[in-house]
Amino acid sequence: MNEILGIDIGGTGIKGAMVDVDTGEMLTERLRMLTPQPATPTAVLSVVKKLITHFEYEGEIGVGFPAVVRHGVVRSAANVDDGWINYLAEAEFERVTGCPTTMLNDADVAGIAEMKFGAGREHSDKTVMIFTLGTGIGSCMFVNGSIVPNLELGHIALYDIAADAEKWAASSARKREGLSWKAWGKRLNAYFHAIERYFSPDLLIIGGGVSRKFHKFNKYINIGIPILPAEMRNHAGIIGAALAVK
Ligand code: BGC
Repeated sequence: MNEILGIDIGGTGIKGAMVDVDTGEMLTERLRMLTPQPATPTAVLSVVKKLITHFEYEGEIGVGFPAVVRHGVVRSAANVDDGWINYLAEAEFERVTGCPTTMLNDADVAGIAEMKFGAGREHSDKTVMIFTLGTGIGSCMFVNGSIVPNLELGHIALYDIAADAEKWAASSARKREGLSWKAWGKRLNAYFHAIERYFSPDLLIIGGGVSRKFHKFNKYINIGIPILPAEMRNHAGIIGAALAVK
């Protein structure tokens, strides 16, 4: 069995579990620790270290992080501390934890998990876009099974409606503004209309914790292409992070 520790770093929680990367199954309970505030690299790294100690793990780790991550270096910080910008994350994580580290964008790892073992597993011959709706909007695209990384489509401007789409259409906007499922579903409809126009995908997969409530908002999204709820929900980040380890 090929076991890897997958770690999902988010704005409020840092989660980890052991994953069987051959089957995509979680082999342990998920451990969740609070994301320290401010979530500076040093503070986050000390929580990651605790997580590794908890699992008594020695080996390679896979990490999903909510920002652009190019070749192991963090390049943006929309919902995290600015100290992450240009942080040599893979190298620093390895130096501090002793575990060789692969770090990718959080939506990219969720997409990897969904395409391999979840809602996208029979669609590797298509253009599939995966969106994670949470604090922000994460985005990921697969073309014939290959990932197009670091898309950052949560930040597109929506015509004259919103300058930064995720502030208006993420799951956090629904909660913050107390929107009904219908009102929020209509916002998603406008957002996904723009996505459909720009990218013409064959299939959309919607992930994030709110995908559990897919039936409540799906009926308001009419963009003429199939939309599926993610199958791995909140575990896609952990499982995909483990799968991302080269
Ligand atoms: C970030 C993305 C991230 C998404 C979901 C956005 O604000 O810019 O990198 O994937 O939130 O966490």
